[in-house]
Amino acid sequence: MVRLITISSLLAYNSLTLAGVLPIVPAGPELQDRATAPNPVNRWESLGGTIISPPAAISALAGTMNVFVVGRYGVCHHIGYNGTNWSTWEAIEGAYLSSSAPVPVSWGPNRLDILAQGEDAAIWHISYDGFSLSEWESLGGSIQSAPAAISWGTNRLDVFGVGSDAGLYHKWWDGKDWSAWEFLGGEGIDSKPAVTSWAANRLDVFATAGGALYHKAWDGKNWGAMEALGGNLRSDPAAVSWGRNRIDVFALGTDKAVWHISFDGSNWSQWESLGGEFTLAPVAVSDQPNRLDVYAVGASGVTSQIVWNGNNVEDSLTGRVDVFVMGQDKALWHNW
Ligand SMILES: *[C@@H]1O[C@H](CO)[C@@H](O)[C@H](O)[C@H]1NC(C)=O
Ligand SMILES: *[C@@H]1O[C@H](CO)[C@@H](O)[C@H](O)[C@H]1NC(C)=O
Ligand SMILES: *[C@@H]1O[C@H](CO)[C@@H](O)[C@H](O)[C@H]1NC(C)=O
Repeated sequence: MVRLITISSLLAYNSLTLAGVLPIVPAGPELQDRATAPNPVNRWESLGGTIISPPAAISALAGTMNVFVVGRYGVCHHIGYNGTNWSTWEAIEGAYLSSSAPVPVSWGPNRLDILAQGEDAAIWHISYDGFSLSEWESLGGSIQSAPAAISWGTNRLDVFGVGSDAGLYHKWWDGKDWSAWEFLGGEGIDSKPAVTSWAANRLDVFATAGGALYHKAWDGKNWGAMEALGGNLRSDPAAVSWGRNRIDVFALGTDKAVWHISFDGSNWSQWESLGGEFTLAPVAVSDQPNRLDVYAVGASGVTSQIVWNGNNVEDSLTGRVDVFVMGQDKALWHNW
């Protein structure tokens, strides 16, 4: 089973956007050059389309990929890879979306749920059960950020967003019903939320306010207090967990370097700089204990990968990652 990952963020430089699935190495020359470079390691292909949001990619079945974007008139569009061929573009009508990236989530093979911010600032939801697509439904809310969403088990969804009061809000699907929107506290939140889960019924949510990181945890029974973790940050945070009691959070610092903080089950580390100079919020993935892959994009459009092997940061790059970006031509581009 392919691990289920979705990563997506907005590149300030020339409005390119990045989203990826699966590990490797989109390092190389400047993006515009790479689009035409006959480099077999860094292949770029245009998948066409006219997109207004960052793309978001997910793999819900080994060897396959699904990419969701918002197209013209705020209509969600999908393109899929079945292991050998890309499909044509398909419009998923019935909701008018903002230009935030849709958020795909999967709780099992061939199951997809998409959460997206509507033009009306409500969160909208649609699901695919492997056979057919539901209708779009409004989950209400007055959400000023792109949502964050996660599933910690079959038939379970947790959705987070920043409200019009700049507080953090949560809504969940328990297999039968959607809850009401729940206020989780927070003041002056100025990033989109990030969420990770290391086990069933465990949630860790992060967001920044005034450049500092805030954390709130659900232990299966109660929400903890909103915890201030400091930092001098300037991007959305990315949170990942490789096992029980382990959390790693990454964000760009005000110095544009990638900064990292981790939780070991009892204590948070100090913030540490991983260096570099980037313009795009980092994305982090982990598919095994003591292994973290962090991607970030620099001012020239070059993507870098930082690999943590449990002891130190290493440069060796292995595996494969598929990177999706919005080109300056507003088409979807794919690198692998
Ligand atoms: C993928 O789609 C193409 C074109 O529709 C089709 O010919 C091919 O058999 C499909 N492959 C798989 C593995 O489903
Ligand atoms: C599917 O892709 C294969 C190569 O990967 C190609 O030979 C074939 O023509 C494609 N099929 C369709 C229906 O596009
Ligand atoms: C965590 O912090 C406590 C007190 O702050 C300390 O006693 C303990 O040794 C720390 N644990 C680890 C694993 O560093």
